[in-house]
Amino acid sequence: MKILLFGKNGQVGWELRRSLAPLGELVAVDSASKELCGDFTDPEGIARTVLAVAPDVIVNAAAHTAVDKAESEPELARTINALAPGVLAREAKKTNAWLVHYSTDYVFDGGGEKPWLESDATAPLNVYGATKLEGEQLILQSGCRHLIFRTSWVYGARGGNFAKTMLRLAGERDSLSVINDQVGAPTGADLLADVTAHAIRTAQLQPDVSGLYHLVAGGETTWHGYAGFVIDFARRAGIPLKVAQDAIKAVPTSAFPTPAKRPHNSRMDTTKLERTFDLYLPQWQTGVERMLSEVLEES
Ligand SMILES: NC(=O)c1ccc[n+]([C@@H]2O[C@H](COP(=O)([O-])OP(=O)(O)OC[C@H]3O[C@@H](n4cnc5c(N)ncnc54)[C@H](OP(=O)(O)O)[C@@H]3O)[C@@H](O)[C@H]2O)c1
Repeated sequence: MKILLFGKNGQVGWELRRSLAPLGELVAVDSASKELCGDFTDPEGIARTVLAVAPDVIVNAAAHTAVDKAESEPELARTINALAPGVLAREAKKTNAWLVHYSTDYVFDGGGEKPWLESDATAPLNVYGATKLEGEQLILQSGCRHLIFRTSWVYGARGGNFAKTMLRLAGERDSLSVINDQVGAPTGADLLADVTAHAIRTAQLQPDVSGLYHLVAGGETTWHGYAGFVIDFARRAGIPLKVAQDAIKAVPTSAFPTPAKRPHNSRMDTTKLERTFDLYLPQWQTGVERMLSEVLEES
């Protein structure tokens, strides 16, 4: 099997380079690649790349993920999140390749308290969510064989993440204020990459699994709960911290105004994915503890 990966240096792209490697020949590119174009602002370039590599599977981990910035550069966000995946889908259809793509719970309006189903009505609150939704639609309309995984609250051990920010602030400040009216499940880039590899294997044998799936870690928390978990873990690991556990204040989203509106309810129902691929999604704490162990060992 030959796999072409776009966005090889992002959180998920980095982990995919590990998890996809044993499946076959892996060609991985990003926006700075020289010999093959991986720049999503160059639609002809990425179409040429697909033609040149002739992959069995295209995996797209590239995206415009700066949610607030997207509000002031909607055209660029649309090019990267919608039009470029649309080109990949067109090329996948032409060449009979699979397209694996990631989307987000931000396609929903975040209302209610029930985990979102794949069949629920979409109504994005911000430019990022709208462009990601258009990307999904272009893939569906192309008629290519696809796996679209909607996920949320993604973290990786490499680079910056929410947990690392909380650890730094907990070392510097006596008290912290963290949002407690957004609910979701922190999901590791490593988990996403591993599930992707399993799903690709299944898809090779059962083409009828083509479709849209919700993919997040098990359980739920708020950003406040997540911060408390991270800081408690660090304290138990003997890391010196300035903040007391009872000085982590819970505040509403309105305490931190941002250009892009965020959904309150990011819960996602993963039953379809677990049944179709016969997989189990571990509780979010499992992956976060592992990431924290890695991060704290390095510090
Ligand atoms: N992060 C989250 O919390 C979250 C939540 C839900 C869904 N998702 C989805 O999950 C997927 C993976 O996200 P992630 O967290 O791994 O994102 P990420 O770490 O921000 O990585 C995105 C990658 O896209 C690349 N990229 C940006 N502009 C590009 C362009 N013009 N051409 C080619 N590549 C470009 C970036 O490369 P450069 O840095 O080199 O530009 C980066 O490597 C995305 O589809 C995202 O929408 C993420």
